[in-house]
Amino acid sequence: MSTFQAPKGTYDLIPPDSARFLAVREAIAAPLKRSGYGYIETPGFENVELFARGVGESTDIVTKEMYAFETKGGDRLALRPEGTASVLRAALEANLHKAGNLPVKLWYSGSYYRYERPQKGRYRHFSQVGAEAIGAEDPALDAELIVLANDAYRSLGLRNFRILLNSLGDKECRPVYRAALQDFLRGLDLDEDTLRRAEINPLRVLDDKREAVQKQLAGAPLLRDYLCDACKAYHEEVRDLLTAQGVAFEDDGRLVRGLDYYTRTTFEFVHDGLGSQSAVGGGGRYDGLSEMIGGPALPSVGWALGVDRTVLALEAEGVTLELPSTTSVFAVPLGEEARRVLFTKVMELRRAGIAADFAFGGKGLKGAMKNANRSGARFTLVAGERDLAEGVVQLKDMESGEQGPVALDAIVDAVRERLA
Ligand code: HAM
Repeated sequence: MSTFQAPKGTYDLIPPDSARFLAVREAIAAPLKRSGYGYIETPGFENVELFARGVGESTDIVTKEMYAFETKGGDRLALRPEGTASVLRAALEANLHKAGNLPVKLWYSGSYYRYERPQKGRYRHFSQVGAEAIGAEDPALDAELIVLANDAYRSLGLRNFRILLNSLGDKECRPVYRAALQDFLRGLDLDEDTLRRAEINPLRVLDDKREAVQKQLAGAPLLRDYLCDACKAYHEEVRDLLTAQGVAFEDDGRLVRGLDYYTRTTFEFVHDGLGSQSAVGGGGRYDGLSEMIGGPALPSVGWALGVDRTVLALEAEGVTLELPSTTSVFAVPLGEEARRVLFTKVMELRRAGIAADFAFGGKGLKGAMKNANRSGARFTLVAGERDLAEGVVQLKDMESGEQGPVALDAIVDAVRERLA
């Protein structure tokens, strides 16, 4: 082992487990790709002000957990803690919203960074696949996104997750509720930190995990009772659309999200096998964010699903993904002449779209067959001088143990036939 280890709160993705991460990313992306979402990639860091906007209600993600730093050139940057602000920034910068085709639908996949206290399911470097639909206010769009996340999880075989749904109101009704909640909180017996939080971001106090706090919150006013007619109607429509699609959800009037930009629809996908870090994904509407970062009014909605936690959820449910074996054919040459011939055959197989590998490193038969076994290949190709003299190689089916000669120029077809 070297003296270096992965930094605290991070881990490496290595084979064979890494294959599951790829499969999860692909499964989440698949429904987006067939729903009009285009792929977007943005830098791993941004100007810090994009995230720390200094207006509105601050959150831990931005105030405490951000990897912010100054460059040698004096720029103040931050490793991205989330994708929404970056994607919106990029869409505005490229004027995608002016192309006359709203909503602009984008999906992304990448690494995000939060300086959190690490524990199972909570890392300082983690991976999300996300989707944003920018520039349309339409309950069907909110419903579409929730259905797509639901479909992604179901396609992976996940069953024990729940969808929590709430509305956070808009700039009409939320301030009224906020004031009412603050009034209520001021009357409680809370520590100084929590009281301070109540002044800055009172909704976050509802999320306090401590029992003593939760007890006092029992009679707290609920946002649902303060929603204006427009927000109420919008939320009802989202709920109806989900119900019509057969997507089960739970109304959670206390659901607050960890980012400051949400309006109206908010939701979280929680998995019951994950302990305290139970949110496998979440999102919602952010109708005011574009203006907050200097753009025009562009009501938008999106989500991000955590890849790390989705993999943990699969484990918790005992779901094993059907991953195609990475190698279908493994070639074992016996002797120099066979090395040259089989190396060429491996290349031919690969070009024909068949995953093939080769016993590198000049091992003997025993060592090479061990490699073949480990590769998980369904077939091995073994050839020695005598085989080559006859113009054949030995094709062995590792499942049945059957073995027989195949003409050199018929290998690709023979393998393809047997794999089909
Ligand atoms: P978020 O709820 O902060 O939302 O993160 C989304 C998901 O990322 C979480 O549900 C969780 O699965 C995963 N995640 C977050 N932090 C960590 C961590 N420290 N370790 C492992 N996994 C983590 C957002 O990021 C919003 N940008 C979602 C969104 C898109 N809203 C609108 N559009």
